[in-house]
Amino acid sequence: MKVDVILGLQWGDEGKGKVVDVFTPKYDIIARFQGGPNAGHTLEFNGQKHVLHTIPSGIFHSDTKNLIGNGVIIDPFIFRKEIEKLLASGIDPKANLYISKKAHLILPTHRLLDAVYEKVKGNDKIGSTLKGIGPAYTDKVSRCGLRVGDLTSQNFEQKYQLQKQNHFQIVKQYDFDLSAFQIDNQTFEEYEKAWFQSLETLISMKLVDSEHFINEALKSGESVLAEGAQGTMLDIDFGSYPFVTSSNTIVSGVCSGLGIAPQKIGKVFGVFKAYCTRVGNGPFPTELFDSIGADLQKYGHEFGSTTGRPRRCGWLDLPALKYAIMLNGVTDLVITKADVMDQFETISVCHQYNYRNQKIDYFPYEINDQELQAIYTHFQGWKKNIAGASSLKELPKPFLEYISYIEHQVEVPVSIVSVGPDRTQTIFRFE
Ligand code: GDP
Ligand code: IMO
Ligand code: MG
Repeated sequence: MKVDVILGLQWGDEGKGKVVDVFTPKYDIIARFQGGPNAGHTLEFNGQKHVLHTIPSGIFHSDTKNLIGNGVIIDPFIFRKEIEKLLASGIDPKANLYISKKAHLILPTHRLLDAVYEKVKGNDKIGSTLKGIGPAYTDKVSRCGLRVGDLTSQNFEQKYQLQKQNHFQIVKQYDFDLSAFQIDNQTFEEYEKAWFQSLETLISMKLVDSEHFINEALKSGESVLAEGAQGTMLDIDFGSYPFVTSSNTIVSGVCSGLGIAPQKIGKVFGVFKAYCTRVGNGPFPTELFDSIGADLQKYGHEFGSTTGRPRRCGWLDLPALKYAIMLNGVTDLVITKADVMDQFETISVCHQYNYRNQKIDYFPYEINDQELQAIYTHFQGWKKNIAGASSLKELPKPFLEYISYIEHQVEVPVSIVSVGPDRTQTIFRFE
């Protein structure tokens, strides 16, 4: 069997969680391969909304196993809160949840360091979710991180204290008021205590050698869907560096984040919004500062699922999308949230950039908003409510023409059309 992949092609929040949930009945295992609780994946069904941060989006289907892979980083405190929320909504995740012993832990001091680094960057700050992502991945690469498998070792406390002291040494170098620092409305000491109390929940889960778990499953004919977090334009290597996250969000992350060989990758479903959003700082060529941008934010409820911050909004960016498709070898596209533009008179799509007085159709190395202008193709809006459509023939012609234009430009089929946040609001074009 092969591993199919669902990942984001823009700056995150494309609707990956919803799409994974819709696909879950077709798969035996859903596996997260990178990122951590900077992710917020929203699922809606039966009139209820659920937001997941670390746990894979297959968790609501009782027949599916869910794996948190070695490439993911886990904050035990946030993880416990997620488990408690699921229990409160009547789901017992324990039976179907497997966690890699090789996944790294986010320590309280990683969150402290995130806050310190962002503060010292001043106006150049990344706009991190402040979940400790950068510092935790830094420790992993520096070979001094703590892993889930360490939780059961005799000297865990000792290893923890050593790392904590190292982190405090770093903080001392900066002008940072520790006494005023809070994490989730708690002092550092209160948070650290709650963090330690949360370890029990993590230890009580099924901790596995995930690379063997997944390869044996594939060998025995089980199907696997890998769930990406963030988006391609936030990838540590290929995103709009340094305004990126600290992991490989692209398809190569599936291999390193789960222990899967490249030839085992099957279909790659690339999810993109019919427009663009970005939360946090960094270049955004098609960003809108007018009433259209405000309408996208309002009708699209564009506020971060993890931080609640307003998302910046703009038109669809085809050069960036083409770049993302190339990096991921996308086989099928999934378009989401076109319904947000149902009442728009005109819909624009950027097909090229004007960059240093030259027309280009690729995402340049360096983006400085003054030097780059988006060039648009304009479409007449469909002015119909597509959110209620349940089949292809119910979709308005101008909307289908708009999809055909995108397909023609990027040379990959749009196989799935999401017309609303609910599980049921999904149209498969080729089934
Ligand atoms: P993710 O991080 O990629 O999983 O996306 P988020 O959950 O952060 O953000 C996507 C938001 O759009 C969520 O609130 C979803 O419920 C919602 N959503 C997903 N697909 C659609 C769609 O087709 N139409 C509308 N209107 N909302 C959608
Ligand atoms: P999902 O999986 C949108 C952004 C942050 C910031 C940058 C770095 O829900 O799509 P980090 O906390 O990783 O140091 O932040 O990346 N970011 C996301 N934006 N969706 C996400 O995840 C994101 N995860 C991180 O806003 O700009
Ligand atoms: Mg999200």
